[in-house]
Amino acid sequence: MRLKGRIAIVTGAASGIGQAVAKRLAAEGAKVVIGDRNAAGVKDVAGTIGQDATGMTLDVADEASCRAIIDHAVGLHGGLDILCNIAGVLDFGRFADVDRSRWDRVISINLTGVYQMCHAAMPHLIQRRGNIVNMASAAGLVGVPYNSAYTASKHGVVGLTRALALEFSKEGVRINAVCPGGVATPMVQQAPPENIDWQMVMRSASWLDGGEMAVPEDIADTVAFLASAEARRITGAAFAVDGGQTAG
Ligand SMILES: NC(=O)c1ccc[n+]([C@@H]2O[C@H](COP(=O)([O-])OP(=O)(O)OC[C@H]3O[C@@H](n4cnc5c(N)ncnc54)[C@H](O)[C@@H]3O)[C@@H](O)[C@H]2O)c1
Repeated sequence: MRLKGRIAIVTGAASGIGQAVAKRLAAEGAKVVIGDRNAAGVKDVAGTIGQDATGMTLDVADEASCRAIIDHAVGLHGGLDILCNIAGVLDFGRFADVDRSRWDRVISINLTGVYQMCHAAMPHLIQRRGNIVNMASAAGLVGVPYNSAYTASKHGVVGLTRALALEFSKEGVRINAVCPGGVATPMVQQAPPENIDWQMVMRSASWLDGGEMAVPEDIADTVAFLASAEARRITGAAFAVDGGQTAG
């Protein structure tokens, strides 16, 4: 119960890592407000968690939607302690095929979405010396071939995390990023396009544990730790949870 009495928002909570994070924070005693563009999924996950969760449809690419979920959480619970920015999309493809609309979609969700949520939440987090955990990726630390927009967006999330950690250190607000390697979720079950060198992609993700994927709960463990007072000396970290993928 490390998060007893804390108020948390988790984006991307209808599936995968976001769902595991929402459940874990609630199990640690937090009141959780979950957001996702998948309205049915939000309802299901909130229902599974029970009285400690409320849900709201959220599009992180839309600034008004980001402000609305922050206002909802603060209106309901009187403040905000923890923001977990988990929502994201993956889009493999040859660079030549990444036209402006594909680029803009990935950047607007994975990077601008994180900016918008942080921007709207920050005044409330300052009031309660809260913290932010952003979901970056191993692709935020090293390049992944045929994944240009995603890799750029996740490097952006790591950079934003570091800049905010410094700027808000005086206010006592901690901002960290988690950088998972492969995690077994619906995101990685999408069929990759046929015209990319998939073997090259897999070589760039050579996990020390033999290529086995993590499960969402592995990542939720790290998020819960970073969001808790146990991590009070940790800010600006890009915390790799990748079985060693980015170690060498
Ligand atoms: N699965 C992996 O191997 C892996 C590895 C590293 C990082 N990540 C990151 O972890 C995060 C979660 O991914 P996941 O694997 O759980 O994927 P997932 O597809 O299971 O879940 C992503 C969730 O984000 C939601 N979402 C997408 N766009 C949204 C938007 N505009 N507004 C609100 N919600 C939106 C989806 O509806 C979905 O519920 C992502 O940021 C992803 O980049 C995943």
